[in-house]
Amino acid sequence: MTPGLGGVPRIVVLTGAGISAESGVPTFRDAGGLWEGHRVEDVATPEAFEQDPDTVQRFYDARRRAVASVAPNPAHDALAALERELGDDLLVVTQNIDDLHERAGSTRVLHMHGELGRVRCLACEARSEAPGDLLPGPPCQNCGERMLRPDVVWFGEMPYGLDEIDLALAGCETFVAIGTSGAVHPAAGFVLTASAFGAETLELNLAGSEITSFFAESRLGLASLVVPEWVGEVLREGR
Ligand code: APR
Repeated sequence: MTPGLGGVPRIVVLTGAGISAESGVPTFRDAGGLWEGHRVEDVATPEAFEQDPDTVQRFYDARRRAVASVAPNPAHDALAALERELGDDLLVVTQNIDDLHERAGSTRVLHMHGELGRVRCLACEARSEAPGDLLPGPPCQNCGERMLRPDVVWFGEMPYGLDEIDLALAGCETFVAIGTSGAVHPAAGFVLTASAFGAETLELNLAGSEITSFFAESRLGLASLVVPEWVGEVLREGR
C-alpha cells in the first residue's frame, strides 16, 4: 500500500444507519424506522430538550440500552478488517451514534453526529462516558452537577470533526458511502467534495438514495453482502 499523502487517508468511508440495520438497529427513514414513532423536532433538537428534557432523555436512554443488546454485522467486520490492512490509509466517518464499528474492531472512526455512549455536561461542558440512563439525572463525573445531556449532535447543532473530514475528502483517492439516504447535510455533500478533488466515488446501499446520481458507481444490496465484497476487492487488488 502506498501511504496516504501527508497522513491523509487514501480511502474515506461514510456510513449511515443502513450499515447497522441488519444488526437490528432501526434506520431513520425506512418504514418502521426510528423517526416513525417520533417527530425529529420532538426528540432530536435543542428546543425539544429545552421544552421536554425527560422525553428526550427517555428516547436516548432507550436507544442506548437497545444498542447494547445488538452486535456488529459482517459489514462492520469487513471495515474493521480493511483498517487492519490499511491502517491510517482508511478513515471511517460515521453519522451513526451507535458503537458497532468500534465493537467490530475499527479504531479510526469519526462520529460526526456524536455517540450514544457519551454525555456532555451543560454545567462544565465536560464530555465523558455515559454513566447509564440519564433520565434519573446522574451527576457529572467532572463537576458533580446533575445537568448531563446525550453527547449527540442535534439538528441545528454543529457536527463534530468537519475540519478533519474536509481535509480527508480533499486528499483521498476513494470515497465510499454505505447505508445512508443522503437526506442530511453536510454528510450528503461529501461525495461532491471528494469527486471535485478527483476521488473515485462508490455508493453501497440497499436502495437508490438522494445522492446516488453523484457517485461514479452505485451498487445496490444489503450492506452485509456488498461491503465484504467491496473490501475483498480492495484487499485483493491492493487498491
Ligand atoms: N444495507 C444497506 N443499506 C441499507 C440497509 C441495509 N441492510 N437498510 C437500509 N439501508 C439504507 C436505506 O435504503 C437508506 O438509504 O440506509 C439508508 C438509511 O437512511 P436513513 O434512515 O436516512 O439514515 P441516515 O442516512 O444515516 O440518516 C442521516 O439523519 O436523522 C438524521 O442524525 C440522523 O445520522 C442521521 C442522519
